[in-house]
Formats: sequence, C-alpha cells, structure tokens
Amino acid sequence: MGEDDKVICNDDSPVKYLTLEDVKCHNSCTSTWLVIHDKVYDVTKFLDEHPGGEEVLFEQAGGDATESFEDVGHSSDAREMLTQYCIAELDPADRKKENSKDVLITTSSSHSSWWTNWLIPALAAAVVGLMYRFYLVETKTSS
Ligand code: HEM
Repeated sequence: MGEDDKVICNDDSPVKYLTLEDVKCHNSCTSTWLVIHDKVYDVTKFLDEHPGGEEVLFEQAGGDATESFEDVGHSSDAREMLTQYCIAELDPADRKKENSKDVLITTSSSHSSWWTNWLIPALAAAVVGLMYRFYLVETKTSS
C-alpha cells in the first residue's frame, strides 16, 4: 500500500511484487491500478487516453482485468502499450488460485476421456469384423 516508486517490468529492472490487497486500494480516479496477466498496471494517466473509454477501466480498477482485457480482443499495439503502465508483478501467492483451477480442469477432462479414447475404436473394429464375417458367410452360401 502506498508504494509510489515505479518499476518498469523488463528483464533489467529489479522485480517488485504487489498483492491483490495492495491493488484493491487503488480503485479511484486519483489512483487506478489493475492486474492483467499477473502484472500490475497503474492506468491513472491513461484514463483520458484509453480508446475504449475510462468507464471500462474504472469498472476493473483494483482487481484482475485479464478476462475483460482479453474479451475485447485488444490489438498488438494495445499489448505493447501495456509495458509503459506496468508498475509491478502480482505476488506469486495471489497467482496460484487461478493456475490451480486450470490444472484441475485439465486433469479431470483428460481422465474422463482416457477410456473413451480406446473404447470407440475398439467398438468400431468389432463392428467391421462382424460385417466382414457376415460378408464371408453370404458369399459362401451364394456360390
Ligand atoms: C492498460 C490497459 C489497457 C490498454 C493499454 C488498452 C489499450 C487499448 C487500445 C490501444 C484500444 C484501441 C483498440 C486496439 O488497439 O485494440 C483499446 C480499446 C478498447 N479497450 Fe482497452 N486497453 C486497456 C485496458 C482495457 C480494459 C481493462 C478493458 C476492459 C473492458 C478495455 C476495454 C476496451 C474497449 C471496450 C475498447 C474499444 C474496442 C472497440 O472499440 O472495438 N481496455 N484499448
């Protein structure tokens, strides 16, 4: 809270971490921070310039705006602009929640498809085998 010394997020700078709690406090027009892809952005000076309007930024102020940012389908120019407003990285402890949810979804879906992956081809092979047998019997009886 109250960290005013800015750090630009590139490889040469020391990394500064902020928690979601820290970001929450900056949700006014005098100080507007938001999180996009685990990085913290101070968009206070960008409010007037944002082509999408300041209201949408206010709505996301003090929280994680990753989904809204991606939903709009921002251009690569917009993504490059992000770097100039980056003040810190999100504390790794606050990132885990999002990542662990992803892992859960992946594991459960891959587990459920494991047996269907071989069961469907096996059934198809059995049907083809039966049809072939039937065809052989048919040709024998007709000749
Ligand atoms: C620092 C963060 C952001 C930057 C640098 C940024 C930058 C830009 C830029 C350059 C555009 C013009 C279109 C483009 O080039 O894609 C734009 C449009 C827009 N942005 Fe953002 N944006 C930011 C965050 C957000 C967030 C969090 C939202 C939340 C909903 C948002 C919503 C929009 C909307 C609705 C438009 C208008 C799209 C349209 O007219 O087609 N932006 N933004």
